[in-house]
Amino acid sequence: MKILIVGGGNMGLTYAKAFINSHVVTRSQLMILEKTLSKTDDLKSLNVGEIYSDSSLCISNADLIILAVKPQDFPQLMESIVKDVRPNQIFLSIMAGVKISTVCQGLNISKVIRAMPNLPAQIGQGMTAFTATDAVSRHEQAMVQNLLSTTGKTLYVEKEEMIDAVTAVSGSGPAYVYYFMDAMVKAAMQMGFAKSEADLLVMQTFSGAISLYQQSELSCDEWIQRVASKGGTTEAAIESFSQNKVSSLIGDGLHKAQDRAVELGKN
Ligand SMILES: NC(=O)c1ccc[n+]([C@@H]2O[C@H](COP(=O)([O-])OP(=O)(O)OC[C@H]3O[C@@H](n4cnc5c(N)ncnc54)[C@H](OP(=O)(O)O)[C@@H]3O)[C@@H](O)[C@H]2O)c1
Repeated sequence: MKILIVGGGNMGLTYAKAFINSHVVTRSQLMILEKTLSKTDDLKSLNVGEIYSDSSLCISNADLIILAVKPQDFPQLMESIVKDVRPNQIFLSIMAGVKISTVCQGLNISKVIRAMPNLPAQIGQGMTAFTATDAVSRHEQAMVQNLLSTTGKTLYVEKEEMIDAVTAVSGSGPAYVYYFMDAMVKAAMQMGFAKSEADLLVMQTFSGAISLYQQSELSCDEWIQRVASKGGTTEAAIESFSQNKVSSLIGDGLHKAQDRAVELGKN
């Protein structure tokens, strides 16, 4: 199995490193195609596989081709590689907003997996949802899922439109967490803590709360009930959140993100 990653940027390199470090793929199985010459020199020094700048030298040798270029660079890429593409090759696209039909029609192929990773994939803690065309066999799908799992957890979704929902939940999700953390850090600083102290208080609270949640059977609501005793401090904060409809505002934000993902997919 030969794998070609097209685009040696943030995500392309994330996958290359994750595949090699997890020993799922050997260096001799991995190729990276990067158009910018200065970047190819850097990539060569990382020793993550064979590095190419000419698509005609690598496209036809690959069994799996990972499309990790920016969506706006895809039309040009398509034009340059379509002549070398073979119908039995599997394509894994991580390009945000690019529909499976665009990839299939543009490259004259039928085996396409579309995935939506998120930022923590860079440290092996990512969340990636993916879907596949009917032409991708169960075995091929499992093989690609195995590769995606080197960057964190994976979830198969049957319908492609769910990728827009995934974009709104886990794709953009890390930013929502940082937003909430930032609000807590600012409030802690207003209470008199130094920035480093506020960071420590908030960061450890987030990671502790998530670990506790992961290790229990309780729902978020049940955990809130446990922390918020009647007439206590937590209840005062939660009541204030409820009165200000924070939960429904967060829901609105996610729906806005989903709508935007749908809109971007039409362009
Ligand atoms: N970053 C994330 O967390 C994230 C999450 C979900 C999805 N994605 C998707 O992942 C894709 C890649 O994102 P990224 O952040 O890794 O972008 P990036 O860092 O800009 O990497 C893309 C790389 O592809 C190169 N490239 C462009 N056209 C090419 C071509 N025709 N042949 C070979 N290489 C080419 C670019 O070179 P130049 O810079 O010289 O153009 C760049 O080095 C995007 O489609 C994005 O929507 C990213």
